[in-house]
Amino acid sequence: MPDRQKDVTKALRVYAYNIVLTALAVSLSYILYQIDPRPFPPVIDIIFWGALIAWASFTQVHLLFKTAISLLFVIALASLFVFPYWFVPILVFLFYFDPGWFDNPNQSLWADYFNRVQNSVSIAVAGSIYYAFTNYTSIDLFGINITYLLGIILSGFFFFLVNVVLVTEMVAIDTRSSFQKIWRENFSWLAYSYIILIPVALLLARLYDASPALIGNWGGWAVLLFLIPLYYARYHWDEYVKIRESFSQAVEALMSALEAKDSHTRLHSERVASIANDIAMAIGLDEADTQQIKLGARIHDIGKIGIPDSILLKPQKLTDEEMDIIKQHPTIGVQLLRNISFFKNILPIVKHHHERWDGAGYPDGLAGQDIHLWARIVGLADAYEAMTAGRPYKPAKTPEEGLKEIEKFSGIQFDPKLAKVFKELWEQNPVWRDREVFLRAYSSRESSLGLPSLLPKASESATTKERS
Ligand SMILES: [Fe+2]
Repeated sequence: MPDRQKDVTKALRVYAYNIVLTALAVSLSYILYQIDPRPFPPVIDIIFWGALIAWASFTQVHLLFKTAISLLFVIALASLFVFPYWFVPILVFLFYFDPGWFDNPNQSLWADYFNRVQNSVSIAVAGSIYYAFTNYTSIDLFGINITYLLGIILSGFFFFLVNVVLVTEMVAIDTRSSFQKIWRENFSWLAYSYIILIPVALLLARLYDASPALIGNWGGWAVLLFLIPLYYARYHWDEYVKIRESFSQAVEALMSALEAKDSHTRLHSERVASIANDIAMAIGLDEADTQQIKLGARIHDIGKIGIPDSILLKPQKLTDEEMDIIKQHPTIGVQLLRNISFFKNILPIVKHHHERWDGAGYPDGLAGQDIHLWARIVGLADAYEAMTAGRPYKPAKTPEEGLKEIEKFSGIQFDPKLAKVFKELWEQNPVWRDREVFLRAYSSRESSLGLPSLLPKASESATTKERS
């Protein structure tokens, strides 16, 4: 299908999806109104909780895997205790504020609309669950009535579930990826952060309704006071993301410095990471594993920092003694990184990327499946990149010769399954196939080529995807 036609199809699907969600939000609100026809709430409550919803929208923090989290869900759930159920979806729709407008003033109105309506649907479902649960059941545990606590946990969970499903579907439409894939990548990461904050919603609502008020003569003061610890949770997410980003930047700087010494190794680890990323995806590893493999690929040769330049940059072929020194770099790498928890999972890559399938590699002479899968992937990617980059004493192989070499040593140096996958990928002419093409593409930083970075940037494409 021509690109233009694809764009039109995508736009139609986005519109259709938004329309379906709108119909769903309206229907659910209507049903809630029928079963719980409490009247229109006081304006002061609307302004106060509406402002909290707008504030909560701003607490958005971008997480891994094209997702973001904000405190909106806590405020929205608390609103269920303050307002008639039918009104909360309307409140969320009206007062949600898309922080994406600050990053990108030209962002599509549909993106903003989508975030409003998906949050409305999510809270409408949560409200329905809460109503049904608390009106039709009564659960005691050791004489204590826990119906309402269970009700809020259950409705909070459903808010999360519906939210993730709706956002995932939009990402799937927007990126043309499969729903299952995105779902798997995102679900577990966010669940924990959501669940632990659900009881706070109950607390906020009770603080607001407390009679007499805890501070002054209005419940809102106590709610405002509790926003401080709540905001701290968001601050914690933010710090977490920032620390990871700083780590990746520091490592990238370190690796670039090491590789820049020699034109043959310039952008070596970036290209290895790109190849390893594609292999990992092709064999069906999930996003979390793939990210780890990319990180490992970027720093697999970090131990070369401990190898003298006279050997590392020697223009002639290395002697056996010099080779033995070079062979220490995986072990040196592990020594450098082993006390940093951030790198804990990727130590097998650093240690074993020079092992061979037949057991003739180093440092431990492991063979076959005994070599960690991630190390086998990076080892293969590393070998292809190195042979197509060449050395001062050894001309670079062409991509075709490189592929032949991988095939020739399949089952000897390389895991035969991975070698097969590599060939299939190579035939699709990926950007990493030809080193020159890769270097040019990387230099121009064409993000659309899917070049590797240690951490995915927050998603900002046609649609802003938010989970609240
Ligand atoms: Fe290496």
